[in-house]
Amino acid sequence: MASISIFGIGYVGVVAAACLAKDGHKVIAVDVDHGKIDAINAGRSPIVENGLDALVKQGVDAGQLIATADVDFAIAHTDASFVCVGTPSAGDGSVGLGYVTSVCENIGAALAKKDGFHSVIIRSTIVPGSTEGTCIPTLEAASGKVAGADFGVGYYPEFLRESTAIEDYYDPGLIVFGSLDQATSQILHDINAPLDCDIHSVDVRTAEMVKYTSNTWRAVKVTYANEIGNIAKACGLDGQTVMEILCSDTKVNISPYFMRPGFAFGGSCLPKDVRALRHLAGAKDVPAPLLNAVLEANEAQIAKAEKMVAESKAKTVGFVGISFKPGTDDLRESPLAELASRLIKSGVGVEVFDPYVQEAFDQENSTAGRGNDVVPDLAGRIVPELKTLIESSDAIIVGNLYQDTVEMLDEVSATKPMVDLTRLRRDLTTSGSYAGICW
Ligand SMILES: NC(=O)c1ccc[n+]([C@@H]2O[C@H](COP(=O)([O-])OP(=O)(O)OC[C@H]3O[C@@H](n4cnc5c(N)ncnc54)[C@H](O)[C@@H]3O)[C@@H](O)[C@H]2O)c1
Repeated sequence: MASISIFGIGYVGVVAAACLAKDGHKVIAVDVDHGKIDAINAGRSPIVENGLDALVKQGVDAGQLIATADVDFAIAHTDASFVCVGTPSAGDGSVGLGYVTSVCENIGAALAKKDGFHSVIIRSTIVPGSTEGTCIPTLEAASGKVAGADFGVGYYPEFLRESTAIEDYYDPGLIVFGSLDQATSQILHDINAPLDCDIHSVDVRTAEMVKYTSNTWRAVKVTYANEIGNIAKACGLDGQTVMEILCSDTKVNISPYFMRPGFAFGGSCLPKDVRALRHLAGAKDVPAPLLNAVLEANEAQIAKAEKMVAESKAKTVGFVGISFKPGTDDLRESPLAELASRLIKSGVGVEVFDPYVQEAFDQENSTAGRGNDVVPDLAGRIVPELKTLIESSDAIIVGNLYQDTVEMLDEVSATKPMVDLTRLRRDLTTSGSYAGICW
């Protein structure tokens, strides 16, 4: 069992303190608010949360949980500290790191007086780079010690929801953390081992980013549901029923499907249907800013790819894929065709390798090239062999992923400028001649 000091006895800190104490860990809760310290030591929760009063009392009565304002005492008598102080928005909307910085100064000063190893684990929500850019330098300056060697550092975000906080603690949907050192990683693994949830042990910045991605995703979901509810109501429909039915599809709608960063959406359905629902909302006088933003964001992703190609300075480019997704010859509102069209207009030579579109042309299907109203002379730009396309192009744009092209493209990625909109290999990231759109 670990012994842990918790800095900040707020909604996050007090739940963690009481649950860790219940699990048999020794917990020292630290705050600057003496009212909260007194409440804990009297066996009461300083916040209102289902079941928390009883859990705090149980921990205090068992001698597993105490509270204090004495930082030196807390650091000296524990192996690790959780930093759970608030990170309110600053005036410009940036994350407010004032409390985190001040608690890191206090912990650092106490670490200077401690001989044994100690891990400092940040749980407050802080933007990527804050642990490395603010917490670690502050801790090192105040302690005179080196992070990762003389003391441990980790980032371990909290995902609980107030009102179901204890339930969420014991039945989490997500556990992720990053650490600088093995000792800190081990503490976090040990604490989470009894929980029935996968543990994602990643680098510190990824853990920081996951927390924001989770919270903003929750916010987007609420806003989307509200927008649908408003449009449904204006149409005399029940938006809650609509959303319940939508959510019953866990194969596509509520699933990782469509949740992979990459290129813009397109095809015969999504763009026109977003436009039509937005138009319907307008006709009913219902504001739909999220639906508007969807089209704007999609356009920005095409513009981003265009800029990447311009940065490669290529005079001729070879598209791997031109249809709106692999496995089809459908070109309707393909964002790849739109990108090709913009490049042609700006004077770039464009050739295309797309086995599905080519097949349609070869078979002289009446629908060959169907839906393409942006790339002039598409049939004449089709190159049947990938090797030929690579040889004749200054840069390659990987638009659709065809499994049998991966090996050859992978080799080329090291030598020829490549703009990858889909990701050839999971471990490829932008470097040298290779540029990934979101990686
Ligand atoms: N509330 C939630 O549901 C929730 C969930 C997940 C993550 N978070 C994140 O966790 C962090 C904490 O949130 P919260 O809602 O628990 O905050 P809170 O405001 O309820 O509690 C913060 C506590 O820190 C104390 N504090 C401030 N400076 C201190 C110092 N120098 N030393 C010791 N204690 C100090 C305050 O007195 C307060 O008791 C935030 O970054 C928040 O975004 C919150």
